[in-house]
Amino acid sequence: MSKTTKKTSGLSTDKNWWRQAAIYQIYPRSFADSNGDGIGDIKGITSRIPYLKSLSIDAVWLSPFYPSALADGGYDVDDYRDVDPKLGTLADFDEMLAGLHAEGIRVFVDIVPNHSSNLHEWFKEALAAKPGSKARNRYIFRDGKGANGELPPSDWVSHFAPSSWTHESTFGGKNNQWFLHWFAPEQPDFNWENREVQKDFLKTLKFWSDRGVDGFRIDVAHGLAKDLSEPFRSMPVHEGLEQRGNKGKGIWGDRNEVFAIYKEWRKLFNQYDPPRVAVAEAFVHPERLPLYASTKTLGQCFDFRFIETPFEANTYRIATQEAIELAKKNKSSCTWTLSNHDQIRHATKMGLNPAVNRRDWMLSNGTSHPLDMQSGTQNALAATLYILGLPGSTYMYQGEELGLHEVSDIPEKDIQDPQYLRNLKVDKGRDGCRVPLPWTATGSSFGFGSGGAHLPQPKWFADYAVEVEEKDSLSPLAIYRKALKIRKDLQTKEEIKWHKTKDVSVLHYSRPNGWHCITNFRAQSYPMPKGEILVTSSPLVGGQIPAGTTVWFKKK
Ligand code: GLC
Ligand code: CA
Repeated sequence: MSKTTKKTSGLSTDKNWWRQAAIYQIYPRSFADSNGDGIGDIKGITSRIPYLKSLSIDAVWLSPFYPSALADGGYDVDDYRDVDPKLGTLADFDEMLAGLHAEGIRVFVDIVPNHSSNLHEWFKEALAAKPGSKARNRYIFRDGKGANGELPPSDWVSHFAPSSWTHESTFGGKNNQWFLHWFAPEQPDFNWENREVQKDFLKTLKFWSDRGVDGFRIDVAHGLAKDLSEPFRSMPVHEGLEQRGNKGKGIWGDRNEVFAIYKEWRKLFNQYDPPRVAVAEAFVHPERLPLYASTKTLGQCFDFRFIETPFEANTYRIATQEAIELAKKNKSSCTWTLSNHDQIRHATKMGLNPAVNRRDWMLSNGTSHPLDMQSGTQNALAATLYILGLPGSTYMYQGEELGLHEVSDIPEKDIQDPQYLRNLKVDKGRDGCRVPLPWTATGSSFGFGSGGAHLPQPKWFADYAVEVEEKDSLSPLAIYRKALKIRKDLQTKEEIKWHKTKDVSVLHYSRPNGWHCITNFRAQSYPMPKGEILVTSSPLVGGQIPAGTTVWFKKK
């Protein structure tokens, strides 16, 4: 059985389109609002297709847009095969997909298989059903400890602390059991040993693939398989990367059984032409990444190391080499990324003194240390040109092309993120990178929509508005546009060659066809090598490359 995508004019027929693609992540609720209710929506995305096209990206990845009560920004899914009525309809989705495809832009959707929401039909059914029933067995229900089952079944902590077990009575269940949730209580974990759960996800993947979706980003891909043998093993602190490096035998992260699931998914993906692609979000020990990125499993896996790598030459070089070697192991390609919807925006990280604890800085509403916004944006652009030049794909996050900073002073009453609300208020959470985008310098919600924004936008957003940056040839937007366009023409073989420099703070590599990239991380200034300059992340000064600058140039 072979299914062929409808012939759509803008898309290439290359099966390997994803290997060196530039993918732009859209956080739908904060991208563009078409009906003035303060929430970004599908029609808003459709209305901005010309903007997306102007970025010369190959694909967009949409964070969840499914029906959801938003206990975790949509990563609490009520129905995997529909669109949240607050965001539109399936017909709106089809219209958006066709519009993007017509412009040669492919679409990834986010699949959240570790947990549903507590409002999913299956969970409601499970709560109403008896212990041991078929309905309960789709999730992980257990009796509690203590004389009357009043204590959680194990000491496992949740990512949004404290316990990862919630008593069913919290949501109206009457059978004195507890259910497991790695994240918020509104995100009950599925029982992936259950064939019905496995089949239902195949149905979901087929549903979106048949609609023409090109790829999937797999949320918490390392989480599905769990060691539920009793007595439960102990996990009083959240399993870190080190434990997840324990050869696939951890408690609930990165267990070997998870690959059987992805092998079955791969068979489904390969029934399409071109095969559907997938990228795993797997926070695992780096040595385990290739298992998720294998041609027999998901094909690609996020390598998040640049999110934490300080903007420093030697660490960048080592991180680059390691990532390339890992990707090669399974014939995958690299997944360079600096930001996403879970991270403090990288322009802000790079504008803070590296010694500053960023969590504390956020908790102080950005007042504990000065942020140098200008140098943060400058370094961020230099880092972007550095990673955009590398072999492999790049995943960008909406707003980074504007050089946007984290919003650190969202008032407590407006915070939505469970990471803050449920985490004993020791972490400001992730709302600061999810504030709706500024499109215009003035007007309601800076052009995001006609009726305000669901998270408050600071005044300084005006300086970063699309409309403002479009008029400035040195703006981050102008540089992203230029670089992404050039990159499209220059990408060939996934090869890289390093060149010696006269300063340890300067990295220089080249790609086939004489495409060179040189980054001055910290040196005072560095002489510009001979060649035709293609794009610079900030202007040269007297023929020298200033600190915090990347230049692409061409040599014969
Ligand atoms: C992933 C998502 C994050 C979400 C979590 C639970 O890490 O990126 O936003 O909170 O999974 O679904
Ligand atoms: Ca809306």
